[in-house]
Amino acid sequence: MEAQPQTDPEQYFQRYRALIPDWDSFLDCLQRPLPTTLWAHPERQGVDGVAGLFDELGFRAEALDWADNALRLHADAPAGAHWGFMAGLFQIQEEIAMLPAQLIAAQPGERVLDLCAAPGNKTAQLSLAMANQGTVYANDVRRERLGALRQTIKRLGLRNVVTTVQPAEEYPLGAGPFDAVLVDAPCSGEGTWRKGGAAPKLPSEGARREGLMRRQQRMLERGLGVARVGGRVVYATCTLSPDENEAVIDAVLRRWGEQVRVRPVRHQLNGLKISDPITHWRGERFHAGVQDCLRLWPHDNDTGGFFAAVIDKTGGNSPRPDWLDRPEREPPERLGAILQRFGLDEAAVGQAELLAPTSRYAHLAPPELIPSRRPVADAMGLPAVGVQANPDKPTTALALSLGAAATDNVLDVPAQEARAFLDREPRRIEPERSGISPGYVIIRHRGVPLGVARLYQGGALESLYPGRWSRASGRRGL
Ligand SMILES: C[S@@+](CC[C@H](N)C(=O)[O-])C[C@H]1O[C@@H](n2cnc3c(N)ncnc32)[C@H](O)[C@@H]1O
Repeated sequence: MEAQPQTDPEQYFQRYRALIPDWDSFLDCLQRPLPTTLWAHPERQGVDGVAGLFDELGFRAEALDWADNALRLHADAPAGAHWGFMAGLFQIQEEIAMLPAQLIAAQPGERVLDLCAAPGNKTAQLSLAMANQGTVYANDVRRERLGALRQTIKRLGLRNVVTTVQPAEEYPLGAGPFDAVLVDAPCSGEGTWRKGGAAPKLPSEGARREGLMRRQQRMLERGLGVARVGGRVVYATCTLSPDENEAVIDAVLRRWGEQVRVRPVRHQLNGLKISDPITHWRGERFHAGVQDCLRLWPHDNDTGGFFAAVIDKTGGNSPRPDWLDRPEREPPERLGAILQRFGLDEAAVGQAELLAPTSRYAHLAPPELIPSRRPVADAMGLPAVGVQANPDKPTTALALSLGAAATDNVLDVPAQEARAFLDREPRRIEPERSGISPGYVIIRHRGVPLGVARLYQGGALESLYPGRWSRASGRRGL
């Protein structure tokens, strides 16, 4: 019989009592709110700029020693309600969830697969670690969860992401070979107790649990299958269950033998306390390679609970690529006309090119982004130019990406006008005095781009801030 969900951690976690070092601090930690943690977009205001925004509000930000560009704030810090969030200055992410992308250490130009990607926090870390070069395949089986990923792509200006919808365990081998694969597996979520103060999403015992474990193993094996020989695969979960963690790694090490190796990485993570993995469970002793897995109890670092392993593919075969041709490009003038209006030159987009539109938008992508035949890409690159408007419309995503360097047709507005813009309120300006000509205008607040407006003859200024973002953003602390 399946266990009923429970809300008493002491009762629920009894099953692991013998495994958990310092049981009282563990329980004590589960009762405390999680600190707010976030990382700063490395190419926008940087970590000091973001820390300054919170300092102004009376919240001291503490830099995380072990994670790039990351800050810890008091649990009450209004990070999600800050206008800087919608401007893509930072991304909110639980501290320990930052670990897998850090372990992958993705490099510019690599091909990386994020097999279970929605809502996309780790995809975003990977994409920016690669400086928007190379390709990140961001996959999730649930199409409806890709909406959040798409918004992350736009807010943070990610150009090198291809989204796909496919069961991870059946991901087509021909999409590979990948240099690195992240398997951030769906799990029972026992480590996220502090977020909801409630029982895990899935039962902890029984047939459904067995099915989940088998699926996790198949996903990890598919991750290894699509990786190149010499590539790396990171397996991660936010659960405490040995069945979904060490037992999955154990099964894979036994099946793949000399073709895989768990890489020792603890020494690279100064500032993060890492506990020993479980080596015996249900009367069985795990494969010796399991010793190099990373287990993180909530009270180790005042976070959620987490598990991760870096697995090197040391032998076997690399899959044969089955890729399409390079996607068709638009002539450079199309983007050039938009850049010119804002006083930007082509260097502003670096190596990126505008792809021929496949929908209402033309997307900006790095030249090395080449989709595979299967799975068919759901979308690729950054929606940059609205091609159904006349003239072509720069998207909010493009404005957030490039608007800080714009010199022409930019309006820097104080808080009250910024709020009106985000609320899509029309207003009037005097074009002669502002030096702005009719057409598209980038709206900035304190030098930070917020989006695009359109100025008409006579001075009417229409906010083109997306309605959906506006509803989501509320007042954003302005
Ligand atoms: C732990 S969450 C991923 C979180 C994400 N990596 C992030 O950092 O934002 C697990 C994801 O796996 C997806 N998922 C569940 N079953 C899957 C499957 N068979 N194939 C691919 N994705 C799956 C879920 O929809 C969910 O979005």
